[in-house]
Amino acid sequence: MANVTVIGAQWGDEGKGKLVDWLSNRADVVVRFQGGHNAGHTLVVGNQVYKLSLLPSGVVQGKLSVIGNGVVVDPWHLLSEIEKLGGQGVAIGPDLLVVADNACLILPLHKDLDQAREAAATQKIGTTGRGIGPAYEDKVGRRAIRVADLADREALEAKIDRLMAHHGPLRRGLGLPDIDGAALLAELEAVAPKILPFAKPAWLLLDELVKAGKRVLFEGAQGALLDVDHGTYPFVTSSNTVAGQAAAGSGLGPKGPGYVLGIVKAYTTRVGEGPFPTELDDEVGQHLGTVGKEVGTVTGRNRRCGWFDAVLVRQSVALNGISGIALTKLDVLDGLASLKICTGYKLGDQAFTYLPAGLKAQSGLAPVYEEMAGWSETTQGARSWRDLPANAVKYVRRIEELIGAPVALLGTSPQRADMIVVRDPFQD
Ligand code: IMP
Repeated sequence: MANVTVIGAQWGDEGKGKLVDWLSNRADVVVRFQGGHNAGHTLVVGNQVYKLSLLPSGVVQGKLSVIGNGVVVDPWHLLSEIEKLGGQGVAIGPDLLVVADNACLILPLHKDLDQAREAAATQKIGTTGRGIGPAYEDKVGRRAIRVADLADREALEAKIDRLMAHHGPLRRGLGLPDIDGAALLAELEAVAPKILPFAKPAWLLLDELVKAGKRVLFEGAQGALLDVDHGTYPFVTSSNTVAGQAAAGSGLGPKGPGYVLGIVKAYTTRVGEGPFPTELDDEVGQHLGTVGKEVGTVTGRNRRCGWFDAVLVRQSVALNGISGIALTKLDVLDGLASLKICTGYKLGDQAFTYLPAGLKAQSGLAPVYEEMAGWSETTQGARSWRDLPANAVKYVRRIEELIGAPVALLGTSPQRADMIVVRDPFQD
């Protein structure tokens, strides 16, 4: 396969960063196609830890990196991330990073609205508070400022007027001060010369690269269950997170995504509010959280933890057209005497083999489990099947069977090299 798309198959935080980092060695260009700086990708390379929220993970490897049109870009955050990486020895200039000139911007007013709504809501979403939802609202509402507008003062003025007309009443209703249009214009004009050197028609660049036989790695953010259509709505993010979005969010077309690698954690986690059928409030949940270091990269919130949910991942395999999975954090299960896998749900007398769409139904599901023996040995750092205890192999094989997709890669520690490679997605 010339191209590979990496997506989270659960609720995000499956360990995509490590896999993208590993795969970017084999790619010529790495592309983000949705979301914004709500993503939290942690890369551990030797003794350096890189935490990225907006930049494609390929930058760390010095690979050409593209922020596609499907991403919402906070220009001030982008510059701060570029500066932070510069401080860690990764110099990022326009030769390394391209930002789609038709991507929409996240403005301070989006962050204000996101945070004020969350504070006022009785039913909170638990957003990252970074303005993602309001920025996408303005995008589909056809009033967003796009990267290319930064070069056009007239367009900026007209769009700021339009945004003020829309946001004024919303802000007043939430007790926020009115927008200072002149100050916003000045801020945008100040940031423009720093952003514009990165701005290009990304679709055209990608088209040319693909025609020249280059290999593209698409880097998804969040996870399939946070998809605005297919996830646990309304407890979702505001973009399509499924693999199909790699085509629309980059402009490369439906043949673009190639091999779809679903990243799957060996158990389940979620941050923020919303249904989570296999959530555990007991000492096993605590074990997963502590041993798995399940703390959000972006918000520092503790992640909710639970057993592996094969129903959700099977659904994700279908929704994303997953070719194979990378199973991560198997070592976190080391030492648990027995393990449970959710194979279906019950809602009263009704049995479900999929996640129903209704919120009430989703919130009331009781998981149906099958139980397997755990293992006492360590799997940490294993690099071949022979290094794994028999029960760990059985657990992995059962997951493959239940979700209907093969394991291509198996991660056994945060280190890039600690992985069992069954199949290289770029060579499939
Ligand atoms: P938003 O994307 O900030 O609007 O947040 C909406 C929901 O998506 C919340 O439940 C967040 O916790 C969740 N979310 C957003 N980004 C991530 C991520 O990178 N990992 C996990 N959850 C995320």
